Amino acid sequence: MSAAGSPGGSPAVGRARPGEGAPGGGAAPAEILLRTEGLVAGYVPEVDILGGVDVELRAGEVVTIVGPNGAGKSTLLKAVFGLLKPRGGRVLLRGEDIAGRRTHDVSRAGVSYVPQLGNVFPSLTVEENLELGALARKGADVGERTAAMYAMFPRLGERRRQIAGTMSGGERQMVAMARALMPSPQILLLDEPSAGLSPTMVAVIFEKVAEINGHGVTVLMVEQNARRALAMSTRGYVLDLGRNRFEGPGDALLDDPRVAELYLGGGRTGGGPGRPGKRVT
Ligand SMILES: Nc1ncnc2c1ncn2[C@@H]1O[C@H](COP(=O)(O)OP(=O)(O)OP(=O)(O)O)[C@@H](O)[C@H]1O
Ligand SMILES: [Mg+2]
Repeated sequence: MSAAGSPGGSPAVGRARPGEGAPGGGAAPAEILLRTEGLVAGYVPEVDILGGVDVELRAGEVVTIVGPNGAGKSTLLKAVFGLLKPRGGRVLLRGEDIAGRRTHDVSRAGVSYVPQLGNVFPSLTVEENLELGALARKGADVGERTAAMYAMFPRLGERRRQIAGTMSGGERQMVAMARALMPSPQILLLDEPSAGLSPTMVAVIFEKVAEINGHGVTVLMVEQNARRALAMSTRGYVLDLGRNRFEGPGDALLDDPRVAELYLGGGRTGGGPGRPGKRVT
């Protein structure tokens, strides 16, 4: 309903991703893996934090959710992952409503989640953290998955015996992402993977997100580093006060002066007249 248009339906913006129809081309849009419809959720009785949120994630995409503090971005990921039972609406995973399912069911269905905070076991080693990640999937070949993670994150391989709590923020984020990837998820939910990191490490983490996506994992992430995240995203959503505000291809949101002004801290330097993202309300 309020979902962004198909990749072929809007001006030629955004990045082509594996599994996605070429922008402007005639390829059929990729399968919708995940979709929330009118999602309502909250923590305290009668206070809805999400007031009916619609987001959509197609196979192969990187979709970023941005918005001010308290907008409900983390709440949305929690409600999708089953950490918070929705009060209304639907969470469709490959067309099946999973709203209210428990996290282990969601995780077994191919969704992994890296929370904003507390995303590693600080008293365990890197390797132990990864091994625990594999528990989400019965029959996972732990040795093979661990080796794949060390190939993707060589620094973790070098430090496999290090206690995770003694690592730098960026390294811990890598442990958290690798742990979430251990069960070979189809969808990765990332809550502010670059938060609190140095500019160099922010760049590394975004490169890793792109690399993970390049391996065929579809990514839904929340980011405060909105410009950078939208620049590498197929599509984005702006949430504010628990509602959809804008949505569109990442580049179109970056170029939209209303989005820049309200949500990205001012206009885009060197930007042209701008292509408007789709205003939702
Ligand atoms: N466990 C909780 N109990 C009660 N209220 C909560 C809880 N967690 C979050 N909230 C409230 O829900 C609202 C949305 O929080 P949420 O964490 O989803 O925002 P956010 O968009 O992720 O913000 P940020 O950018 O600061 O991470 C806030 O008003 C917050 O105070
Ligand atoms: Mg948050």
